[in-house]
Amino acid sequence: MDKTARPGWGIMGAGGIVQRWINGARQAGIDIRAIASRTAEHAKKTAVELGIPEAVSYEELVSRDDIDICYIAVPHPFHMDLAVMAMEHGKHVLVEKPAAVNAVQWQKMVETAKENNVFLMEAVWTRFFPAVAKLRELFTEGSLGPVKTINCTFSGFLPASAKDNRNLRPDLAGGGLLDMGVYCLHLCDMIYGCAPEEITGFGCINTDENRFGVDEQAVYIARYDGQRLAMLASGVRTAMRDTAFLYAENTAVRLPRFWKPTELFIQRIKGWGEISEECISFEVPSDTAVTEAFGTRPDEGFQYEIRHVEECVLKGLRESPEVGWAVTDRVLKQCDELRNQWGLKYPFE
Ligand SMILES: NC(=O)c1ccc[n+]([C@@H]2O[C@H](COP(=O)([O-])OP(=O)(O)OC[C@H]3O[C@@H](n4cnc5c(N)ncnc54)[C@H](OP(=O)(O)O)[C@@H]3O)[C@@H](O)[C@H]2O)c1
Repeated sequence: MDKTARPGWGIMGAGGIVQRWINGARQAGIDIRAIASRTAEHAKKTAVELGIPEAVSYEELVSRDDIDICYIAVPHPFHMDLAVMAMEHGKHVLVEKPAAVNAVQWQKMVETAKENNVFLMEAVWTRFFPAVAKLRELFTEGSLGPVKTINCTFSGFLPASAKDNRNLRPDLAGGGLLDMGVYCLHLCDMIYGCAPEEITGFGCINTDENRFGVDEQAVYIARYDGQRLAMLASGVRTAMRDTAFLYAENTAVRLPRFWKPTELFIQRIKGWGEISEECISFEVPSDTAVTEAFGTRPDEGFQYEIRHVEECVLKGLRESPEVGWAVTDRVLKQCDELRNQWGLKYPFE
């Protein structure tokens, strides 16, 4: 790749997340050259809808010389094969979360990245929000004190009628842990910076007669360094709110929509019943010309992650300094451990 030129991007997958990610991609001003999916018609329809110049097959996409970075946005069980194929063709890869279904798959992806000397990162977009940078600053500067406990929940609330949704299908690695729970685990990893020494929990694989065979809801707790704790929960059929709380000795931070945070509520406890709350908010900047040209989708903040990936690739990095390979490995190993405790194995494993 010419190091002075902007990289060319290709998208693998044409589903729900691509419809949302594209707005951030436009805001970041990246050069998307083609989109691929299994069926030519679907790829073509999505290309037209999203203003992407070409629709191709997965094989054609990775064979093209003008594509430098592949963004992989298909259901979890297909991340590894598409990522390996792309990397073996010398492409850099941004792969949606969870990067793989288990840590063994991720290991193979990392080995392929090393062998082919390409960039590989899990798309943990939360880590790149300005609100998260502020959060870290508040805690590392010491004004809030070290975090001692994290409490965070995140769940979808699918009705039984949504039986074809990938989150209710074991063959598509459905369930709350891999789809939503990874955000909770990544938040803890980001704050504590290490794997827990112990993690344990309860997973309800079926909550009613529909017997979908995935973790419909789960709660889990973890201990880090003997003294820092986490209380987490995830699901796909329970209306748990996506709010995180970070507790220090006499301060707490509440993060609504913690996986794409734009507001930090800092609570200071002065005495029993005496709590002050201050809000720091961040607007996701929006280029109105882009929004007008490409539709009215809400601006969610994918541009921060996308810009980071381009910067890493242009610098010749293989790993992101923010979401390194070890980070993803730690999170997937915790998922493996929890699923093992719950007896949840996917049919293809
Ligand atoms: N960062 C976020 O906030 C966020 C949000 C949602 C999802 N995600 C992640 O993004 C990924 C995709 O989720 P989604 O909601 O977009 O899924 P989706 O709507 O079900 O779409 C997935 C796309 O993948 C393609 N596909 C399906 N099966 C495939 C297979 N066997 N091989 C290759 N391609 C296949 C499908 O296109 P064709 O049928 O045309 O092939 C479909 O367009 C998941 O891993 C999810 O965790 C991330």
